[in-house]
Amino acid sequence: MEIAGFGVEEWLNVYETQATYDIAQSTVSSMTMNELLNMGQANSQDFYRDLDAQKMNYGWIEGSPAFKTEVSHLYKTVSPEQVLQTNGATGANQLALYALIEPGDHVISMYPSYQQLYDIPKSLGAEVDFWNISEENQWMPDLDELRTLIRPNTKMICLNNANNPTGTVIETNLMTEIVKIAQEVGAYVLVDEVYLPLDDTTDVSSIVDLYDKGIATNSLSKTYSTPGIRIGWTVANPAVTDIFRKYRDYTMICAGVFNDQMAVHILKNKDLVLDRNRKIVKQNLKILTDWIDNEPAVSLVVPKSVSTSFIKFETIDDDEQFCKKLLKDYGVLMVPGSRFGVPGHARLGYCAKESVLVEGLKRLSQALHE
Ligand SMILES: Cc1ncc(COP(=O)(O)O)c(C=O)c1O
Repeated sequence: MEIAGFGVEEWLNVYETQATYDIAQSTVSSMTMNELLNMGQANSQDFYRDLDAQKMNYGWIEGSPAFKTEVSHLYKTVSPEQVLQTNGATGANQLALYALIEPGDHVISMYPSYQQLYDIPKSLGAEVDFWNISEENQWMPDLDELRTLIRPNTKMICLNNANNPTGTVIETNLMTEIVKIAQEVGAYVLVDEVYLPLDDTTDVSSIVDLYDKGIATNSLSKTYSTPGIRIGWTVANPAVTDIFRKYRDYTMICAGVFNDQMAVHILKNKDLVLDRNRKIVKQNLKILTDWIDNEPAVSLVVPKSVSTSFIKFETIDDDEQFCKKLLKDYGVLMVPGSRFGVPGHARLGYCAKESVLVEGLKRLSQALHE
């Protein structure tokens, strides 16, 4: 089975440990164990006492009842039986695609987006058409284009909402129109929902609350600031979840007793995590947009309170060379747009620690005007 190299991951695997000012990541600034375990009324002693008493057996195979219940509460129409724990959203996407896509299937994938969403279906023998989002259209997809791509045999539409790398959002009205198009041919709509817009004005709905053949994948890695615990999940209707169960047994047994306990703790305290992260997104987005206003060498379609942004270079041609030089000479890491198939751009993860963002942007300007 042939598969393309994963552009972003290959870049980060090589360079992320070399950065002094890492403004490449799409996670809202990760939290320490100490911060996590002492949020609100919580205290770490209680957590560790419970953990000390835990046997390190396989634990709950699909995720503990507490985990599945907490996750189901993130949706309007989902019961705990529809939730399966996975190894991050990466594991969730892999499971859903592996379980449903067969050679010869037709798949439509938003592009640019997360590479799993088009290169896994391709590797499974599907014919993949890109549904391009373009900068001229504020990185938003065009429904008419989807109507020209859809076929009677389209098996699945793969979306990433909010979008990595651009930070743009398909709001509920538009998603409802996408569902109508998918419904006409009975296609699944898989939406990777790891980026939740952190403001009160963006109207976004999970695909599973809009469409019976909707599949949501998600994790605690981005909006919930804890990629280190490697916990994600799939949500789908009961019949599709049963298909996932079968394939899941071949790819993972469980996500681990410790990780599950941490995940439950985070989900029980999600309001505190989200409050923290709303503040970070708001403050840092202001820093980013103020910088953009005074930096003629780049432009930006401003992200919708989502922890990733995609800048366009106005003066640099080779984004990959520039990003390498930026890291070597200035200690600043971004992800070149070429890694998403969009040269002349870069992903700028502005939800880093504030001091890192401020110094990173200052140095980025120096490099741009060198
Ligand atoms: C859209 C998207 N999905 C999934 C992932 C991976 O998530 P996880 O760390 O939960 O596996 C990423 C990471 O960058 C992502 O951007």
